[in-house]
Amino acid sequence: MCGIVGYVGAGGDGTALDVIMEGLARLEYRGYDSAGVALVSNGEIALQKKAGKLVNLREAIAANPMPPSGTAIGHTRWATHGGPTDHNAHPHLGGPDLRLALIHNGIIENFHALKSRLVDDGVVFTSETDTEVAAHLVAREYAASGDLTGAMLAAVAQLEGAFTLLAVHADAPGVVVGARRNSPLVVGLGTGENFLGSDVAAFIGHTREAMELGQDQIVTITPDSVTVIGFDGEPAEGRRFHVDWDAAAAEKGGYPNYMTKEIHDQPRAVADTLLGRTDAFGALVLDELRISEDALRAVDKIVFIACGTAAYAGMIAKYAIEHWTRIPCEVELAHEFRYRDPVIDAKTLVVSISQSGETMDTLMAVKHASDLGALTISICNTHGSTIPRESDAVLYTHAGPEIAVASTKAFLAQITATYILGLYLAQLRGGTYADEAQAVMKDMHEVPAKIQAVLDSMDRVREIARFMADTRAVLFLGRHVGYPVALEGALKLKELAYIHAEGFAAGELKHGPIALIEPGQPVFVIVPSPSSEHGLHAKVVSNIQEIRARGARTIVIAEEGDEDVVPFADEIVRVPATPPLLAPLVTVVPLQVFACELANAKGLDVDQPRNLAKSVTVE
Ligand code: F6R
Repeated sequence: MCGIVGYVGAGGDGTALDVIMEGLARLEYRGYDSAGVALVSNGEIALQKKAGKLVNLREAIAANPMPPSGTAIGHTRWATHGGPTDHNAHPHLGGPDLRLALIHNGIIENFHALKSRLVDDGVVFTSETDTEVAAHLVAREYAASGDLTGAMLAAVAQLEGAFTLLAVHADAPGVVVGARRNSPLVVGLGTGENFLGSDVAAFIGHTREAMELGQDQIVTITPDSVTVIGFDGEPAEGRRFHVDWDAAAAEKGGYPNYMTKEIHDQPRAVADTLLGRTDAFGALVLDELRISEDALRAVDKIVFIACGTAAYAGMIAKYAIEHWTRIPCEVELAHEFRYRDPVIDAKTLVVSISQSGETMDTLMAVKHASDLGALTISICNTHGSTIPRESDAVLYTHAGPEIAVASTKAFLAQITATYILGLYLAQLRGGTYADEAQAVMKDMHEVPAKIQAVLDSMDRVREIARFMADTRAVLFLGRHVGYPVALEGALKLKELAYIHAEGFAAGELKHGPIALIEPGQPVFVIVPSPSSEHGLHAKVVSNIQEIRARGARTIVIAEEGDEDVVPFADEIVRVPATPPLLAPLVTVVPLQVFACELANAKGLDVDQPRNLAKSVTVE
């Protein structure tokens, strides 16, 4: 749940500090309740750390400048063990003379036992963190061997849990040692300098050449070398790759905040995710899956596992994929899946959906599914992350870096990727939709322009949002694929604007929730296309009438040309006509814009809502 940066260069000047501060700024989305930096300079550790956002650390350093250095580590934290205070901020110092500095992402599960042993040995702790235990363990091993890599190796052997650790020692200028288990760490390869980061954003301003580390590996970087070994001490190799997005892609692109930028990135996110998935004849080609066609043909059940917004993408996928493939699909919150006894076997395809690829709940569910013998595919937005590595195959979404904590463009890219997977399965297995897969893909290629059209017509939605800044509760109704869209609209409003919001299946209203309707209650209704099957459109129109009759203020998302809703809508938000199964890709957009604008109107930080972090790497 934290951001980690490490740097070594010829240094001697302020480079190391500049690199770390820039990296921390880019990683702040991973956690932002405190930050800190440690430098090795003139045989000493120079340390500064501050509770609160990075700006606090910046101000502390400006008030109390740090010495020149070429070796540094930095950390931006989201608290797990110990509240967000200066003391609990990382780096933590280890050893009797506090000459080792260490940062950590993850949780050391056996830290209580380790800590009491260290306390018995006379070690004095200054924080409530699990991390400080690791700092003292590595320092103790270093005192015995004088070798920082060996010290890290000996220390990780004593740790249980998930962790990325970076350490520097006052006696080892020009060396940073990192270790990872179930938590991310990527190496940035420079010339005369090298970098470590929780993800490539940490060093993208300096190099696009990177190396992904495997599980249970230790890396030692100096200005001129990168050496990898396994936790068994044997030499190991990372996988080198070129980062194909640049620093500018991670900036706000002229928008007032990342969230607005990312909402506007959505046509591109969907278009890029569709790119390269078909051959010259329009047939779907998913070479990257690397699972045999026979194994995929044999699949008799699909289970989507994910959390939050990503789980809503899975709910939408269920409607489409069951329709196209006739394979039964289930959708389950990853943290629930993990702790029951799911009926899974080798013919079950478990599809995890995760923007970050690091969500611990989802990662653990994937491992559980693998242990039960299922085929596992990860739909993921982050290269080099853990969930794809733990899966049999990965289908990457191409939404680009998503910095705002609340997910927007990744959601649309996730829906797109699940649809590509569903259509590919339909094509592979034959049947009615095998022939139609190409036609659906053609419709999908038209979606980015439709999303753009929605984005270009959001003035009234913004006005409504500003007008509703004092609203205390909002309801969202939808049916069929519109139901998960309603859930997502409610989640966005809750997390961005801190307004109580609930999403319901419109048909469920009469079974209870309609009691919530009182005069003036705002209700968003996602109306299905009039071209939907089974009279769905008419049913939702009558749901609108029911709530309107009880005084609700209805804000209706409806297709252009749908006149049936006009008599019952206080506000109509028009979206372009879209095939019913593809509609979520356009109907969710006004709900995102609404939540973002309303939060802005309340003066809230839409990029970093309270109590939330982008990457939830604890269970
Ligand atoms: C909501 C949101 C979260 C994430 C969830 C899963 O806006 O962003 O609900 O969707 O925490 O995260 P990933 O996709 O990284 O696994």
